Amino acid sequence: MSPTVDEPTVPADQLAREVARRRTFAIISHPDAGKTTLTEKLLLYAGAIELAGAVRGNKSQRHAASDWMEIEQQRGISISTAALEFELEGCHVTLLDTPGHQDFSEDTFRTLLAVDSVVMVLDAAKGVEPQTMKLFEVCRSHGLPVLTFINKLDQPALDPFELLDQIERVLGLAAAPMNWPLGDGPDFRGVYDLESNSILFYERQEKRGRRTAPVAVASPSDPAVETLIGERRQRELIDSVAIIAGAGTRFDADAYRHARQTPVFFGSAINDFGVEPFLRGLLTLAPPPAPRMAGADIVSPTDRDFSGFVFKVQANMNPRHRDRVAFVRICSGRLQKDMQVVNPRLESGLRLSRVYRFFGRDRETVPEAFPGDVVGVVIPGRIAIGDTLCAGRRVVFPPIEQFPPEQFAYLRPSEGRHKRFDDAVAQLAEEGLLQVFMPTLGVRHPIIGVIGSLQLDVIAARMSSEYGIPCTVDRLPHVAARWPMAPVAQLQLPLSGVVQATDRLGREALVFESDWVLRYTIEKNPLVEFRSSM
Ligand code: G4P
Repeated sequence: MSPTVDEPTVPADQLAREVARRRTFAIISHPDAGKTTLTEKLLLYAGAIELAGAVRGNKSQRHAASDWMEIEQQRGISISTAALEFELEGCHVTLLDTPGHQDFSEDTFRTLLAVDSVVMVLDAAKGVEPQTMKLFEVCRSHGLPVLTFINKLDQPALDPFELLDQIERVLGLAAAPMNWPLGDGPDFRGVYDLESNSILFYERQEKRGRRTAPVAVASPSDPAVETLIGERRQRELIDSVAIIAGAGTRFDADAYRHARQTPVFFGSAINDFGVEPFLRGLLTLAPPPAPRMAGADIVSPTDRDFSGFVFKVQANMNPRHRDRVAFVRICSGRLQKDMQVVNPRLESGLRLSRVYRFFGRDRETVPEAFPGDVVGVVIPGRIAIGDTLCAGRRVVFPPIEQFPPEQFAYLRPSEGRHKRFDDAVAQLAEEGLLQVFMPTLGVRHPIIGVIGSLQLDVIAARMSSEYGIPCTVDRLPHVAARWPMAPVAQLQLPLSGVVQATDRLGREALVFESDWVLRYTIEKNPLVEFRSSM
């Protein structure tokens, strides 16, 4: 007899143990700060990949493990989101890859809903950059704890106090240094660990394998420090440590976990310097899965009933397996292969017979998974971003809001009609790659709405390569879509400049040609709310 997989059979102590050792995080950064390089080094430490370059090669020949779409390779950018998992020092770590390109920031936004903490990478020469600020705002809105890695100390850098000050001023987050850089650029000698009072000497990457262990000292004023780094640097270190002790932010685990403070580590990812202490910091400081709200219910990870939500849907991830994968973040209980779950939105049950863990293009069957884990479930029927899957107690996690689209285009098959066209567009909409607006008058070609124009290229490429439907994308001048909270027939609309349409779920929507037309419509209908997302 097959085991009864829809019963909460997991022993409570085993579940608690598994939850406690989970660390699920994502890395955010401004492009070029070193996110990919740091990811690669972390995975190397964990033994999850064998060779440098498995996550990325140099830009001319990248075959990233988290980088499976052909278009990504052609353009040398990472636009998909994948989960990478590894075991290290008793912890089960899941790293969710976030796309670097800002046209895919909606994907990043959703990914950040699925993690328990975040690593922020800054370039030491540039500090807090615009994309860092945008992504940090999302972290703040989700209350996510943030660890900071200040990268590229091997190059001329801003003063470390200036960098900490930027984090505090620009991001409004207290910054607590965990180690302190000894010089920068050609003058970079290493870091002083403020907690263990030890010096980690900098060696360039060529010397890897012969790395000397950190040297313990009594304090910055220990005479041994002068022998190690010279008198001038020792004086600078004594002064800096005195300032940190007097006026700086001291590390406070509680403040970090409540997203009021970020512990800051300095290093150089490309030279594999400072990565190991950072990874150790991550394992010890980053929080395990926490309870989540599902409407009025609190779902604790140690609740024995399984629950999770879909934060990403991707069709045809692997040309060898033409199927749709829903990426599920597990929030409570234990997921077991073949278990029976419910999707409350569809009021339908489904058996999780094909559950996978992905490593870039590769997949592996998962017999069981725990809160914090991200698994890919192959779903034969319909599933959309934001759907809850649960067994036993019925819970519904909050819907995942879509970003208001900013660019619009007509999408149509290049040659005549195509009977699978509507289905293909619907699938891409369920993945969250586009929003569909079907005009109710005139031309009956769908208008698609996206955030960034790169998405339009991806849509055309995928329609052709995955569905065999070459498409024409005719860009429209339209600037915004709104969902009126009153029937369109009752609205006063301008004579031109607005397209009446229905969205993927049949709800009435309007697509505006200019901000002026949008403002006019809002002014003419003062009692009606026009929502920018649904
Ligand atoms: P991203 O994912 O945040 O966009 O950054 P990525 O890791 O791709 O790094 C951007 C560039 O910065 C790369 O150089 C990378 O080699 C370099 N880099 C990363 N960490 C360090 C560091 O600690 N020190 C120095 N000096 N450079 C670093 P590139 O020339 O743009 O690409 P490539 O030809 O090396 O692939």
